[in-house]
Amino acid sequence: MTNRYLLPLSILIPLIVLCGLCAAQTNAAPPPSLLAPTPVMGWNSWNKFGCDVNEKLIREIADAMVSSGMQAAGYQYVNVDDCWQVSRQADGTIVADAQRFPSGIKSLADYVHSKGLKLGIYTDAGRMTCQKRPGSFEHEVQDAKTYASWGVDYVKVDWCYAEGLDPEVQYAKFRDALAQSGRPIVFSICNWGVKAPWRWGPTTGNLWRTTGDITDNYDRMSVIGFTQNGLEKFAGPGHWNDPDMLEVGNGGMSRDEYRTHMALWVILAAPLLAGNDLRTMKAETRELLTNSEVIAVDQDPKGVQGHRVWEEGPLEIWIKPLADGSRAVGLFNRSDAILTIQLDSKLIGVKPSATLRDLLDHKDLGAIKDTYAPEVPGHGVLLIRVSK
Ligand code: GAL
Repeated sequence: MTNRYLLPLSILIPLIVLCGLCAAQTNAAPPPSLLAPTPVMGWNSWNKFGCDVNEKLIREIADAMVSSGMQAAGYQYVNVDDCWQVSRQADGTIVADAQRFPSGIKSLADYVHSKGLKLGIYTDAGRMTCQKRPGSFEHEVQDAKTYASWGVDYVKVDWCYAEGLDPEVQYAKFRDALAQSGRPIVFSICNWGVKAPWRWGPTTGNLWRTTGDITDNYDRMSVIGFTQNGLEKFAGPGHWNDPDMLEVGNGGMSRDEYRTHMALWVILAAPLLAGNDLRTMKAETRELLTNSEVIAVDQDPKGVQGHRVWEEGPLEIWIKPLADGSRAVGLFNRSDAILTIQLDSKLIGVKPSATLRDLLDHKDLGAIKDTYAPEVPGHGVLLIRVSK
């Protein structure tokens, strides 16, 4: 047989490449890394409002996100947590609570989008949500399609009522369902660290919870935050460890404790999801949540999660390398009393001429010299940027 009917290789190879590209393009959803190149920023209803959510509240929060300057500071997602859903229709379609969300989720998404913001929603990979609303188990594809048709931009997927299920398998199903939904949707895995989600999370979702729930007190917040050390190797652009949402401004911690919460979360390259009432927050809370020098550490394009480099009793030093060659350094005092913390230039690999900038208070502090030894308040922090 002659090769008269065969296309020459010079035509065939470009054709194969082209078809591959076409096939990839019809798979509408972009790879997860394009959705969260830096840790997500937004707000979530759970920490302050629990089950008490409704469309009026969510619209007002979206308004406040713009008027308070949160949007300008980078906060983007307005996320409704548990309790927006009540039942399923005969065909299985999920139904929003008509008392609390009379206009429906699509109309809420339209409103949030009209403000230049994005809407997030919540479900559960098991049979019911933690508040016993319908879960997405065996409805993954249908729910992902419904969310996409409503214009949802983000979904947090919890892990209640999932007895006998394997999180790695169930969350992969959800990932695939979202990929087929026809809309880019940030995927937040919320299984509280069960079965080490940092191992499979990077190929499954954009963020994964590493622990149980945060509460609005220093002990719980600090136990969660300071035990993240060692997980830094699993985080990077598009896929982040999630030590849970912020409690800043909810009233259970002191000013220094909330500053520690924020400083630790930005060093951890954690998602920044405010959890307070944005409509009524005090100036002190707004200033902390919108501090641009602090947020820049979290959102640094290098996307490296920080880690601990030194500890002595209740004192800890953490470092996060930044894209311009400088480093963010957190000097944390976990005791109740004011204490001096000694930062040696050698410890963080900089010359004595490297300069220091206090990010929380926007102050230049001069050169580090051989050692810089500030006093740090009890439960407090000094967050500095050290030039290269
Ligand atoms: C928990 C979750 C919380 C919140 C709550 C809602 O499992 O960790 O962040 O979503 O469920 O019921």
